[in-house]
Amino acid sequence: MVKKIFSGVQPSGNLHLGNYLGAIKNFVELNNDNDNKCIFCVVDLHAITVKQNPKELKDNIRETVATFVASGIDVKKSIIFNQSKVPAHSEAAWILSCVARMGWLNRMTQFKEKAGKDKEKASIGLYSYPILMAADILLYDATHVPVGDDQKQHLELCRDIAQKFNKDYEVDDFFKTPEPLIKKEFSRIMSLKDGLKKMSKSELSDNSRINLTDEKDEIISKIKKAKTDSLPLPTNKEELERRPEAKNLIGIYSSLTGIKLEKSIEKFSGKNFSEFKDELSNEVVEKISPISNEIKKLLQNKDYLDEIVINGCEKANEISSKKITEIHKIVGF
Ligand code: TYM
Repeated sequence: MVKKIFSGVQPSGNLHLGNYLGAIKNFVELNNDNDNKCIFCVVDLHAITVKQNPKELKDNIRETVATFVASGIDVKKSIIFNQSKVPAHSEAAWILSCVARMGWLNRMTQFKEKAGKDKEKASIGLYSYPILMAADILLYDATHVPVGDDQKQHLELCRDIAQKFNKDYEVDDFFKTPEPLIKKEFSRIMSLKDGLKKMSKSELSDNSRINLTDEKDEIISKIKKAKTDSLPLPTNKEELERRPEAKNLIGIYSSLTGIKLEKSIEKFSGKNFSEFKDELSNEVVEKISPISNEIKKLLQNKDYLDEIVINGCEKANEISSKKITEIHKIVGF
């Protein structure tokens, strides 16, 4: 079966190791399989759900495209585009917002986390953001959506919206219900400063994350400063589960090297953190520095990056405008 892959990344700057291990690395693997049709979207409409500096946003859109390419996504085998240039996304989001229910959105934990205590002051866009995400996916009849663990609930909502639309308008199977592709392990990389908090672009401390544009020295220094507990490294999985910082760092090591978690635990069992951190730094530098260098190189060639997106937008427009025309007919416009 041909898998239709769709996923998106916000161009809000500071793409980090969590984005890479939770999502972009999977994009590359899926894209390498010739049986898959892949679409990767720079979701700039999602980015403005919180305040953005317009000049920085423009740069960040390019940087996100550069990150996709530098990580190994083959531009010839995929469609890379930015959401704002494909009008069907905004339109479908509106139509689907008339299908989605308030009760469903009220359950979204990410909104609660992002809006924090002051939710009255959060933008409506931040609240309805998962509906735009559903529109992104459903417009392309995506069958599989690779994401990190934090997007799981949004994908469940997307499936609910698809099913309700099909039922309300009696159009069996018009919208496909997509399958999330979430890695069983390491699908939630945590902050280097707090093993219970997700690694995030919006975290104030830059030391909490490894950015994909960090220099070698920065990577080494951040790993050196990463929070740990005072015990030697765990000797088994049960112990690892009880120690969030150790779990995160060993998880990053396993994910980057492809060594099974059990084997990584065995390798460092009872050793002290400084020894392990040296090996971890080497691994992160070895895997991330080439990406970081390539991003910087690509950013020198803005025309090339813009061309990728222009081509991608053309293709995305072609597919999504057909789907939105069908939606119009179904809805009665
Ligand atoms: P965004 O931009 O926050 O994150 C992009 C991808 O990175 C994953 N991710 C992580 N994975 C593991 N550990 C972490 N600490 C971590 N932080 C981020 C996210 O799960 C995501 O896969 N709403 C989405 C973007 C989006 C989208 C879509 C995704 C818009 N439309 C359609 C899929 C399909 C978001 O804000 O991701």
